[in-house]
Amino acid sequence: MSHPESGTRVVVLLGSLRAASLNRRIAETLRDQAPAGTTVEIADGLGDLPFYNEEIDVETAAPEAAQRLREQVAGADRVLAVTPEYNGTMPAVLNNAIDWLSRPYGANALRGKPFAALGATPTQYGGKWSHDDARRSATVAGAHVVADIAISESTIDRGDVLEDPEFVARLLGALDLLVAHRVESASAA
Ligand SMILES: Cc1cc2nc3c(=O)[nH]c(=O)nc-3n(C[C@H](O)[C@H](O)[C@H](O)COP(=O)(O)O)c2cc1C
Repeated sequence: MSHPESGTRVVVLLGSLRAASLNRRIAETLRDQAPAGTTVEIADGLGDLPFYNEEIDVETAAPEAAQRLREQVAGADRVLAVTPEYNGTMPAVLNNAIDWLSRPYGANALRGKPFAALGATPTQYGGKWSHDDARRSATVAGAHVVADIAISESTIDRGDVLEDPEFVARLLGALDLLVAHRVESASAA
């Protein structure tokens, strides 16, 4: 659901816990340079989530960090995973967050939300498998993946990519696409 009159809220699921994370800086760049009418919030407490376990996911008594994340995502209009890749897939912290967000089954916070995944890594494919896997998991959880958004940036021999205006422009273009995405037109296609 989008609320153009009150602006569009985008929640970022950050896949790195490192304070000096490049992907964190990418998320912060999107937050700080988001166009008027778009608010980007970074859900950066993903490391506080316990590992998903159905036994502790009980109605009204789910762990506080999980409830907070579910509320944050439920209240958002769009969800963006910004993440590196670990061992050929998304970092466990992001996978775990998607698991928490995928329940309760059928009424979860990701359901129907436009979703995209992007990021950068210092290897040849820029974390492409991580981004592909995050998109697949989000799809299974009921999100609407915005297929046109596919930035898996290799930083090999690039220096600080956030000093590259062309890269920053591509990031902001991806944010625009995510905000402009309409679920109705996607399901009609
Ligand atoms: C356990 C581990 C596994 C990794 N596996 C991959 C990988 O499969 N593909 C890749 O592109 N980078 C891999 N990397 C490198 C990360 O992409 C790199 O550390 C990256 O800078 C982390 O992102 P951050 O700066 O946002 O923390 C791995 C790093 C770690 C610590």
